[in-house]
Amino acid sequence: RSDPEKRETTKQDEGKSIVLGFAQVGTESSWRLANTKSVIAAAKEAGIDLLYDNAEQSQERQIEIIRRFIKQKVDVIAFSPKTETGWEEVLQEAKEAGIPVILSDREVNVSDDTLWTAYIGSDMMDEGRRAAHWLAGELTGQKRYRIVELEGTEKSAPAVGRKKGFEEVIRQHGNFEILGSYSGDYTYEDGKKMMETALRQHGKLIDVVYAHNDDMALGAIQAIEEYGLHPGKDMVIISIDATRPAFQAMVTGKLNMAVECNPLLGPQLMKAVRDLMDGKELPMKIITSEGVFTQETAKRELQNREF
Ligand code: AHR
Repeated sequence: RSDPEKRETTKQDEGKSIVLGFAQVGTESSWRLANTKSVIAAAKEAGIDLLYDNAEQSQERQIEIIRRFIKQKVDVIAFSPKTETGWEEVLQEAKEAGIPVILSDREVNVSDDTLWTAYIGSDMMDEGRRAAHWLAGELTGQKRYRIVELEGTEKSAPAVGRKKGFEEVIRQHGNFEILGSYSGDYTYEDGKKMMETALRQHGKLIDVVYAHNDDMALGAIQAIEEYGLHPGKDMVIISIDATRPAFQAMVTGKLNMAVECNPLLGPQLMKAVRDLMDGKELPMKIITSEGVFTQETAKRELQNREF
């Protein structure tokens, strides 16, 4: 998926440094902050010139940033697409300029897959499945368990995948029902607001809260406590990311389980950029391997947690 013909002598052969333009999606979560840090540190470590900008949750702004990188004739563009759709035009422009594009942590849904070179990140659908498998293993028996789902940014790859994977597995078990799904932007504040609404609508009927990321789960935990219930006991709370704050919440018994989503993608991204510049073929998808953490394992793992 690279275009080696365009690069008979590589920049590295000529002693020039590689320029990578990185269009980050925002600063919405602990996960995102760790991801940004990882990209910046890895570029420095790899001796790659990084042009970094942040779209702060605006797809329009992310497109503008990518267009600027194209104008600046960077060697490679990487970005974390806010949503799955709406990228055809700008990706076509990058392709015509001969600039390869790497998708970082979120995939796109475009009709022509040659518009992007590689994806580095998690299998979001599998994360949703793993959350549901854990739940199905824990909550068995005759009781019907009612779930509230706190979704991430509408049409973003993690929100789409985590919902699809979770519901696919939940449907296979007769004892679960999704009471309501709410949509936020992966922030603590959104998680709190969505949970307040869910509690107003369903109150004590809620058995399980499935949050598409830790920050929303932590916001929901706050809302549940303010409502006078005990998160982790009166309701099972599960989330995705497994960042340090989630580990702390598991240690204090307020979060029951977190499926890992690894934000430390910087080193893999820099390796992919170098490989591309060396004319090497990249695999279309580079998927990170990740764990599942519970209250039983959280205490031990907390000290090793890097993000
Ligand atoms: O794309 C990865 C997701 O985006 C993370 O799970 C979430 O925390 C972040 O904001």
